[in-house]
Amino acid sequence: MLRTPSAVREAERHTAHNYHPLPVVVSSAEGAWLTDVDGRRYLDCLAGYSALNFGHRHPQLIEAAHAQLDRLTLTSRAFIHDQFADFCRELAELCGKDLVLPMNTGAEAVETGIKVARKWGYQVKGVAPGQANIVVAEGNFHGRTTTIVSFSTDEDARADFGPYTPGFTVVPYGDLAALTAAIDENTVAVLLEPIQGEQGVVIPPEGYLPGVREVCTERNVLFIADEIQSGLGRTGATFACDLEGVVPDMYLLGKALGGGIVPVSAVAANSDVLGVLKPGQHGSTFGGNPLACAVATEVVRLLATGDFQRRSAELGERLKAGLEALLGKGVVAVRVRGLWAGVDIDPALMTGRQACERLMERGVLAKDTHGSTIRLAPPLVITADEIDHAIAQLAAVLAG
Ligand SMILES: Cc1ncc(COP(=O)(O)O)c(C=O)c1O
Repeated sequence: MLRTPSAVREAERHTAHNYHPLPVVVSSAEGAWLTDVDGRRYLDCLAGYSALNFGHRHPQLIEAAHAQLDRLTLTSRAFIHDQFADFCRELAELCGKDLVLPMNTGAEAVETGIKVARKWGYQVKGVAPGQANIVVAEGNFHGRTTTIVSFSTDEDARADFGPYTPGFTVVPYGDLAALTAAIDENTVAVLLEPIQGEQGVVIPPEGYLPGVREVCTERNVLFIADEIQSGLGRTGATFACDLEGVVPDMYLLGKALGGGIVPVSAVAANSDVLGVLKPGQHGSTFGGNPLACAVATEVVRLLATGDFQRRSAELGERLKAGLEALLGKGVVAVRVRGLWAGVDIDPALMTGRQACERLMERGVLAKDTHGSTIRLAPPLVITADEIDHAIAQLAAVLAG
């Protein structure tokens, strides 16, 4: 008898229903492959929304975690530990910035970015007290805190969680004129995803990000790039901003930084920006803990080789070609950057959820978003043959 149905029921019994997972119960994983409680294997084409860029249980990361578990796991930031300096220096170098501020989840990195931008606005730019505003984009996804959902345009994420935090102006994504018009003397930052992941891997028009960079420089406004999902190799470059030759004032990082083992996020910026924070003004008990730093330092070292970025760029071409071949065969649009794809399924055929359920039956795990879109974001260790396999399964699902 299969264990999955009862394991799904048990998993749902004592939890709030704030997720609607696919009915698969995973018990082990390696590289790009997952195994469920009934021994069935699945190709992971979601990779924890990019948190597993290096695959499940990458040997170098697991070794670092094991070694650290045997020595020291937590100190709080009241004391300094011996993993901290290397992590901060190596991540700052990867980002080309002076300083980093480690936190845990992506939402915390976003909150940190907002706080730093506001303080910078008051102390450096000279914005009048309480007047700072930040320009954000329609269709954004930056996390789930009360402040962050205050400027979400997704009703599911936002409705009934007010009163909302003021100080945000929402403009259409990809529209440089609208963004420029929204900036006033109290604007301290523009906060954007260089590619909108949750929205369905939405890529802005060419020239948009360089245009944002230019207007931010001209108007003395910080450009904050939320690279929590797009960064750290996913798009075929270290940062999605690199693809457009753009350097933001602040990078927000998370997900893959923790190597799929621990939650690690960070803000990276120069000292004229991050230097506005003084003791007592921001922090987190777990931020920058020894285990997190040990794992994340190895993540940075994996990225410093450039191998994962190259792999993502090269295999991304294969993924793109394979998906484009499905246009008109159940697929109405595809958007691909590196090993990251948004695939719009013909809504007349099936929903994104149905497509993912049928893919699951064929041993491929992916995630739908916004009705008829599915997102593919396999671990960057996936092979060419495995990409072909995933595309063949999608073709079979669409052919019915
Ligand atoms: C672009 C972006 N920012 C922030 C977040 C929030 O990260 P977390 O879920 O770790 O709080 C996400 C999560 O999906 C994201 O995609």
